[in-house]
Amino acid sequence: MQREGFNSKLGSILALAGSAVGLGNIWRFPYMLSEYGGGTFLPVYIMCVLIISVPIMICEFILGRRSQRTAYGSIARLTKSKIWAASGFLFVLIPTITVSYYSVIGGWTLDYFIKSATMQFSGATPEAIESMFGALVSNSWLPLAFHLVFLLGTCVIIGFGVKKGIEGFSKVMMPLLFILMVIIAIRSVTLPGAMEGIKYLFRPDWDKITPDMFIAALGQAFFSLSIGMGIMLTYGSYIPKKANLASTALSTAFFDLLFAIIAGCAVIPAMFAFDMEAVQGAGLVFQTLPSVFAQMPLGSLVALVFFFAVILAAMTSAMSLFEVPVSYLVEKYGMKRPLACVIVFVLTFSLGALCSLSFGALSHIQITGKNIFDFCDFFTANYLMPFAGLIIVLFVGWKMPKPDVRDEYTNGGSLNLGRKNLFWLIYFAIKYVAPVGIIAIFISGLL
Ligand code: PHE
Repeated sequence: MQREGFNSKLGSILALAGSAVGLGNIWRFPYMLSEYGGGTFLPVYIMCVLIISVPIMICEFILGRRSQRTAYGSIARLTKSKIWAASGFLFVLIPTITVSYYSVIGGWTLDYFIKSATMQFSGATPEAIESMFGALVSNSWLPLAFHLVFLLGTCVIIGFGVKKGIEGFSKVMMPLLFILMVIIAIRSVTLPGAMEGIKYLFRPDWDKITPDMFIAALGQAFFSLSIGMGIMLTYGSYIPKKANLASTALSTAFFDLLFAIIAGCAVIPAMFAFDMEAVQGAGLVFQTLPSVFAQMPLGSLVALVFFFAVILAAMTSAMSLFEVPVSYLVEKYGMKRPLACVIVFVLTFSLGALCSLSFGALSHIQITGKNIFDFCDFFTANYLMPFAGLIIVLFVGWKMPKPDVRDEYTNGGSLNLGRKNLFWLIYFAIKYVAPVGIIAIFISGLL
C-alpha cells in the first residue's frame, strides 16, 4: 500500500513537471534574464513563484480535484453564478493564443535540429552562428513551413489519440534533457570570459528594478509553471485523492525553477564569453548555445540530442495546450474530435503564421511598439494569465466556502499532518498575498 501511494504521488509530480518544463524554461527564461538584468530579475522571479504562483497552483489543483472537470467547466460546476462561470472562457482563449506562437518556436527548434544533423554548426564562428538565426526568421517561408510541421504534428497526435505513446517516450527524454542541460551549463560557465556572465546572473543590481521587471517576472512565473490558463486545473482533476496538494505544487515549482536556473547558467555565461551582450530577444538561446556546442567534445552529437529533446519537451507542452480548445469544442458543441482538431488547427496556424511573419515580411506591423509575436507573448503571459490567476485565487479565497477549501486541501481531513499542514498560511496567501501581489504589480505597471 505504502509503495503504491508513493508511486502515484511521484507519478503526478512527474506529469506536472513534464507540463511545466518546456520552452518556457529553455527559451523564455534565459531571454527574460538577459532582458531584465540577470541577478536582479532572478530574486524577483523566485519571489513571484513562491508567493504568487505556488498558491495559485494549489488553487487550480483544489478546483480541478473538487469539480472533477476540465478547465472550462470547473468553476461553473462549483457555483451557480453566471459571472464567475463565464471566466471559464479565458481558460480556452489563453491556451489557444499560446499554442499559436509556441508552435512558431517549436518550428525554430525543428530547424535547429536539422541544422545540427547536417553539421552546420561545426566549425562555424560565433558571429556566423549568431547571424544564422536572423537569416532563419527573416526568411518568411522557411519558419512558416516549420511552424506548419510542428503544429500539424501536434494536431495529428491529439486527433488520433496517440498522445500516450509520445508522453511515455518523453518521460525517458526529459531526464536526458536535464542531464544534457547540466553538462552544457558546466561547459558554458567554464568558457574563458564566462565569469562576467556568472556575476551578471547572480549579482543583483537593485538600481535596475523597474515595474516592467515585476510584470515580466510575474508573467514568466505564470508561463513557466503552466498556471493561469486552466492547464494545472485540468491536471488537478487527475491528482489522486490521497496526494498532498501543497507538497505536489511545491515539488513541481522546485523542478521547474531548477531547470530554469540551469538553462540560465547554460545561456548567460556563454553570451558574455562570446561577446553577444547585444543579442537580445527571442533568438538568444538559438544564438548562444550552438557556439557552446562547437566548444564541446562530441559537440555535434550533443547538439543533435539536445534539439531533439527540446522538440519533445515543446511538443508535449503544445499537446496539452492544443487539447484545451479541442476538448472545449467537443464537450460544449458535441463536435466530432477530428473536426474540432481541424478548426483549432486552422485558427492556431493562422495566428501563428502572423507571429512567424512578424520577424520578416510583417515586421512593420507594430502594436504598442512590439511586433505581432512579441505582442502575443507579452500580452498573454504578462496580462491574460495573471488576470486568469487573479480570478482563480479570488474564487477560491473569497467565493468558495472555507470549509470546502480546507476539506479539499486536507483530503477530507485525512491528511493528518496536524499543525504542519500549513493550511492557515496557504489560505492567507490565497486570500490576501497572491491577489494583492498581482493587483499591485498591475498597478505599478500602469503608473
Ligand atoms: N510551462 C510550459 C513551458 O514552460 C508552457 C506551457 C504552458 C505548457 C501551459 C503547457 C501548458 O514551456
